[in-house]
Amino acid sequence: MTLGTAYRNWGMPPRVRLILTMAALAGCLLVTATPLSRAQDIPHLQFISALADAIDQTQLTPRERLGLRLFFDASLSEPAGVACASCHDPRRAFTGNNNTMIGVALGSRSDQFGTRDAPTIMYLATTPRFSRSGAVDLDGKRLPVGGHFWDGRADTLEEQATQPFFNAVEMNNANTPALIAKVAKSAYAGAFRAVWGERIFDNAETALGAVAASLAAFERTRVFQPFSSKFDHVMRGQAKFSEQEQRGLNLFTLRQKGNCAQCHTVDTASGNPQKSLFTDFSYRALGLPRSQRIPRNADPSFVDLGLCERVPVALNGQGKAAGSTATSAAVVRPVAQDPATCGLFKTPTLRNITVTAPYMHNGVFDDLRDAVTFYATRDTDPARWFPAGKKFNDLPARYHSNVDVDNPPYQRRPNQPPQLSNEEIDDIVAFLYTLTDGYAPPGSTRAVPSTMVTPAQSPNPKPPSTASSPASRGEY
Ligand code: HEC
Ligand code: HEC
Repeated sequence: MTLGTAYRNWGMPPRVRLILTMAALAGCLLVTATPLSRAQDIPHLQFISALADAIDQTQLTPRERLGLRLFFDASLSEPAGVACASCHDPRRAFTGNNNTMIGVALGSRSDQFGTRDAPTIMYLATTPRFSRSGAVDLDGKRLPVGGHFWDGRADTLEEQATQPFFNAVEMNNANTPALIAKVAKSAYAGAFRAVWGERIFDNAETALGAVAASLAAFERTRVFQPFSSKFDHVMRGQAKFSEQEQRGLNLFTLRQKGNCAQCHTVDTASGNPQKSLFTDFSYRALGLPRSQRIPRNADPSFVDLGLCERVPVALNGQGKAAGSTATSAAVVRPVAQDPATCGLFKTPTLRNITVTAPYMHNGVFDDLRDAVTFYATRDTDPARWFPAGKKFNDLPARYHSNVDVDNPPYQRRPNQPPQLSNEEIDDIVAFLYTLTDGYAPPGSTRAVPSTMVTPAQSPNPKPPSTASSPASRGEY
């Protein structure tokens, strides 16, 4: 694979270009007034920080605004060039993989790719702490639940926020003092002192705590949980689903059809959209296809086992090493593996799903319809998903029993009709399109919040129409 093919095309619709040009112009005015900071030297860095300008900052407290500055600061990586926003781009509901097209993110060094897809970081404010048995499944079985990352290794947003800075395939800083030195030299160092105290930079570990707390505060704001989708408007009685969207919702929740809501939780009765986060934070093994485009997967002995390899952040030594020389290859203490949790990953929210491609922890699906179709045909037509029809090829055989094969939509067998017809899959996808934030009810003059991707910019640009859908061509 060459880098040329690994990158997304930067072609953008004219409106975005205009916004960015305006932001860049504003940036130029600023340059004349302030001394050149490192970020302004490099066009790419300037581009990332320009994304921040699209966010309405008027409602943010000083601490939250500091979190925003840190989030969009691409000089905090080693070498400079990658910010949180590179992989969590506000135009894609805070996903983006630093613009690769291979389902996983590129770090600050030009040839260093991760092994997982960057999930959306919206709607995380109420994520519970990780617990091995905090959820109860339909059959009464206790399930692991909560935490951040696909394997829940961080308990809180604060704990999470310390990690990417030191991850060698993300921002790659050598240690805490190296990171804090950059923050202390930043254009917002004064604001940092104003919020956290004049002496905050004296102790690197304390300062790292302040960096993490600022980022977490920003991630808990309305910017990340606007509840402004069509679904939310319908819940509040301010809009109506189309017939197809309503059919999709019914299929999504019906236990004998999609049964999606078993894990992607919905509460349509409450009228309160905050009760519908489209995740119960539980861990499950879907038995996904192995992704051939993840560079690390060229090694057949590499397998991402998810939850059973979870090393809690508190134990991994990363970002805890003030004044020490702990590196990104910090001491990882062994944790007891529970084989029953191998292959399990956290259920993500489906809010904004139409703009967060690719899908799943390994980014194996580029297309939302494929992700939904996988549920319907994994067990009836395995040859469609797995080479030679050999199921669960991203998981060693000894863990195959961790994959659910009994509950809908998985209870069908080869040669049986799929759990969902083509039309029903279309209906569910149409419903999923109502989960994109920034919906303006017909006739309203309210502007779409500029932080959100408009459908025209999204990777799955058009809601399915029955006329052009693959269903009408008779294929899955
Ligand atoms: C190079 C890409 C990259 C950068 C830079 C990056 N992230 Fe991430 N982020 C990821 C990936 C990939 C994951 C999933 C990793 C995993 O589960 O092991 C992730 C996961 C997360 C999560 C957990 C979401 C959940 O499941 O609850 C949060 C929160 C987050 N990132 C915030 C940040 C913040 C804050 C920064 C900047 C300090 C940042 N990220 C920088 C790629 C990136
Ligand atoms: C038994 C629990 C469960 C059920 C039922 C379920 N899902 Fe999921 N879903 C998950 C988990 C867990 C993941 C993440 C799996 C992974 O990446 O390894 C996921 C991921 C997804 C994703 C990708 C999300 C992303 O951000 O990458 C989509 C889309 C999705 N599910 C849609 C659906 C639909 C539609 C249905 C119903 C047809 C459904 N799910 C039923 C647990 C479930």
